Amino acid sequence: MDFKGRDIIDINDFSKEELLYILKSAKKFDPAFAKKDRSNYTIAQGKIAATLFFEQSTRTEQSFKSAAQKIGMGIIGFNDPHSTSIHKGESFSDTIRIMDAYADVLIIRHPKVGSAKEAADLAQIPVINAGDGPNQHPTQTILDLYTMMKEAGKLDGIIVALMGDLKYGRTVHALSLALSHFKVKQIFISHPTLRMPDEFLQVLDKRGVEYEEFDVLPEDLKADFVYQTRIQKERFKDLNEYKKIKDKFILDASFKKYLDRGVKLMHPLPRVNEIDSVLDAHPNAIYFEQARNGLYIREALLTLILGRI
Ligand code: NCD
Repeated sequence: MDFKGRDIIDINDFSKEELLYILKSAKKFDPAFAKKDRSNYTIAQGKIAATLFFEQSTRTEQSFKSAAQKIGMGIIGFNDPHSTSIHKGESFSDTIRIMDAYADVLIIRHPKVGSAKEAADLAQIPVINAGDGPNQHPTQTILDLYTMMKEAGKLDGIIVALMGDLKYGRTVHALSLALSHFKVKQIFISHPTLRMPDEFLQVLDKRGVEYEEFDVLPEDLKADFVYQTRIQKERFKDLNEYKKIKDKFILDASFKKYLDRGVKLMHPLPRVNEIDSVLDAHPNAIYFEQARNGLYIREALLTLILGRI
């Protein structure tokens, strides 16, 4: 399988076989699977990653930077566009053309849907979508799949409940699409105004995926994973709407009974108040392990698109 030079823009660009290949490649970077000390620090030596963050991030930006350095890459880029010539009025396309000349891979997060695709059309080098507005976040999806695979030992046959902001949450959009390649039942739990958009449900219908929708967390929920998400305040046009909904889907100490039953709780993070920290110590609360897995996935993805695996 050849990933050299590929852009990572839309999860739909990856077949089931390709997704599984990436998951397998990430094991080489994961101390849970690597047999001895990982000597990967020179795989991508001499290559440069540029991180272009037009929107805030902690995990995605820092784990890409860490992953790049762990495989020997140098790093350039910005996370405050106002510290660059964008502040003087330089266009998006000029910024991309310039960074294209200085790096070997561009990692871009931007509030506008389609911005990563636009960058990929302009750039000669591979572009990774680190989140384009409410649309997609494909590398988060791959690390979510990796986490489920690592925890459950399989993807076919599991049941996944996606919860919270299914309308604006880009992580759940791309995750639902990716899970549709596998025999996974999907359960959507959200306020009626934040349902999974029809465009994504139509894909599930077309692919014959079994799914259910609820507007409260069912008492007798049967699921292997609950994937909780943050209500995406920054995407609401009317903040009063946000205020009405923001405290409706909080998982507090009463969720412990689900964890005790074996449900594993995931979250792409950051959380605001939607998972009470009293749940953190439970062995089935796995959101911090999930974030850690992002490192191995990003080491694998960078190595693959640079053609160094
Ligand atoms: C998410 C994002 O930016 O889409 N965070 C992440 O990358 N792990 C989720 C969020 O902001 O709610």
